[in-house]
Amino acid sequence: MNIFALSRNAFKNTIYTSIIKQTSFSTRTTFSSLANQNQCRLCGSKLNTGARNVFRIKSIRFKGTSTKVEDGNTKEKLTRLLSLAHPERWRIGGAVGLLLFSSAVSMSVPFFIGKLMDIIFSDPQSNEEMLKRLKEMCFLLGFVFAAGAVANTGRIYMMQTSGQRIVQRLRSNAFRSVISQEVAFFDKEKSGELINRLATDTSLVSRAITDNISDGLRATSQAIGGVSLMVYTSPKLAGISLVVVPPIVLFAVLYGRYVRKITKNVQDKLAESSSVAEEKFANIRTVRAFGQESKEMNLYNAVVTDIYDLARKEAIARSLFYGYNGFTGNMIAMMVLYSGGCMMIDSQITVGDLTSFMLYTVYVGVSIAGLGSFYTELMRGLGASSRLWQLVDKKPTIPLTGGSDVLRVIADNSIDFKTIDFYYPSRPDVQILDEFNMKVESGDICAIVGESGSGKTTIGSLLLRYYDVNKGGIDVGGHDIRSFDPTSLRQYIGTVSQEPALFSMTIGENISYGATHDVTTNDIIDAAKKANAYRFISDFPDGFDTLVGERGQMLSGGQRQRIAIARAIIKNPKILLLDEATSALDAESEHLVQDALQKLMHGRTTIIIAHRLSTIKSANQIAVLQKGRIAEIGSYYDLLTKEDGLFKQLVDRQNFQVEE
Ligand SMILES: Nc1ncnc2c1ncn2[C@@H]1O[C@H](COP(=O)(O)OP(=O)(O)O)[C@@H](O)[C@H]1O
Ligand SMILES: [Mg+2]
Repeated sequence: MNIFALSRNAFKNTIYTSIIKQTSFSTRTTFSSLANQNQCRLCGSKLNTGARNVFRIKSIRFKGTSTKVEDGNTKEKLTRLLSLAHPERWRIGGAVGLLLFSSAVSMSVPFFIGKLMDIIFSDPQSNEEMLKRLKEMCFLLGFVFAAGAVANTGRIYMMQTSGQRIVQRLRSNAFRSVISQEVAFFDKEKSGELINRLATDTSLVSRAITDNISDGLRATSQAIGGVSLMVYTSPKLAGISLVVVPPIVLFAVLYGRYVRKITKNVQDKLAESSSVAEEKFANIRTVRAFGQESKEMNLYNAVVTDIYDLARKEAIARSLFYGYNGFTGNMIAMMVLYSGGCMMIDSQITVGDLTSFMLYTVYVGVSIAGLGSFYTELMRGLGASSRLWQLVDKKPTIPLTGGSDVLRVIADNSIDFKTIDFYYPSRPDVQILDEFNMKVESGDICAIVGESGSGKTTIGSLLLRYYDVNKGGIDVGGHDIRSFDPTSLRQYIGTVSQEPALFSMTIGENISYGATHDVTTNDIIDAAKKANAYRFISDFPDGFDTLVGERGQMLSGGQRQRIAIARAIIKNPKILLLDEATSALDAESEHLVQDALQKLMHGRTTIIIAHRLSTIKSANQIAVLQKGRIAEIGSYYDLLTKEDGLFKQLVDRQNFQVEE
């Protein structure tokens, strides 16, 4: 990294500061892609937003892609890195062919120039003769240059496109791998870091094996050609000038290794800085509400300062390397001039030969410097690739597919939680569910109530197989859910989650997001009507084409929730999981949505996590969750008439909003 990189850091810093300071900052356009990642994580049941922010600051990092990568076998890694170029072998091969040609053209330049010099300075010949030969020479040279230019154009085009195709493949592979990971993976990893891997590591890796390979090959061929021609032109002079090559190469190797180490650290820090920025931009309202902009700036500054420190180390190494190279190069030139001059005095060499030789020396010097940077770029690519491989190779503990299709195997829609123990993988010492037992008959409505943090949302996450239970099992329709194809299971269940997350698309697109079949505009309108969302949607000037903003932040909580309900309705699921689905609604719209939900629940097995009495009155059974176990279960009236019962206490303490 050089001075440009340093100023890039300063620039980044300024941008971050100014964005954090914007008053009505809409993250939609600039950072929508980043936040969509975050959104996937929000869909899953997690800590609420406030709690998550608090926890994030001191979050403990577990093993995952963020852990340091062991260096391992360099040769293996190099082979793997190079194997990325395999699908592009024909293009790259073609580019190399053109490269060799254009290098040969470059190599012929000193030869021609030497010849020109000899024409100009050689013994008396008639001016006319001289002019004729000059013209011939220039004509030939022009032709050679033109051919060289065409070859060079083709080479650059082919190399660049190969490089971009490699980046494209790398990115989609890495994205595929990341998006297929189990939910627990996203509990540990920061989306900003993951995005950074997709964006920057991939291009570093691709550059290392395309443009860089081509530069390296050109440098090699020019070095070999140059040295041969030097020896051919004057073996004696060649001997004098080549003694300095070994120390240069040694220095280049040491430098390359150093750069590789630094690159990996720089990439880590870059990923960290993206993660800081991404999280804070996505939650700009919280940052603003607590007036923490300057703290965030300091946090970000600290990370970019770390990047600068690393870049400075590299800058020192680089400046020494190039300073040394430049000096040795000039010293060689001087030595050649001196010895060549002496030889010319003795008429051992012509002025043309000396000129050619000098130019070859320059070529060889440039090539050796090129080899040095080829090596460092390769090391840089290796450094960036280790992380990428870790991401690409990671097998999710809960795969997306594999197993039997729910639709084919189950007889009914009953759900049976059988003596479940559960701990979150990211917090393995806290037991969330303790021998949890609950059966919901097919078509029944079961309500789960309990204090905040008692594990209600977790039960839903387990049913959707975001996580696997540690003990016991869950049966749907008499089969263990682990035997199902996880995607088919999730398609079978309709969910409206506690914090419904929408995507930065139109309302219509959001509603049809969950559909497993093709939906018509009428289906969308129908679902919106059922969710009691149609009225407010039609009030927007753009109707169903209204953009909802990142995570739906351009809508009110109640509107978001109703769209989430419509999204679940359009799926027409046989099992419904409603996690405080009406929490953000006011009494009026709640009444209407309640009505819609009531109709929706008809004929489906429903688990409804509720905080309002009205929601659960119609449930066949109500389970009161306490400390990861069912403390009470029964019908609404059974539980309410139970003296000193937990449910009664909950109602009495007005943890429930009792309505008439
Ligand atoms: N992704 C997670 N990783 C670790 N712990 C979690 C996670 N999500 C929730 N928890 C913890 O699990 C417990 C139960 O959470 P949850 O099921 O969301 O409660 P409820 O929905 O009943 O309010 C809480 O103590 C919470 O801190
Ligand atoms: Mg919850």
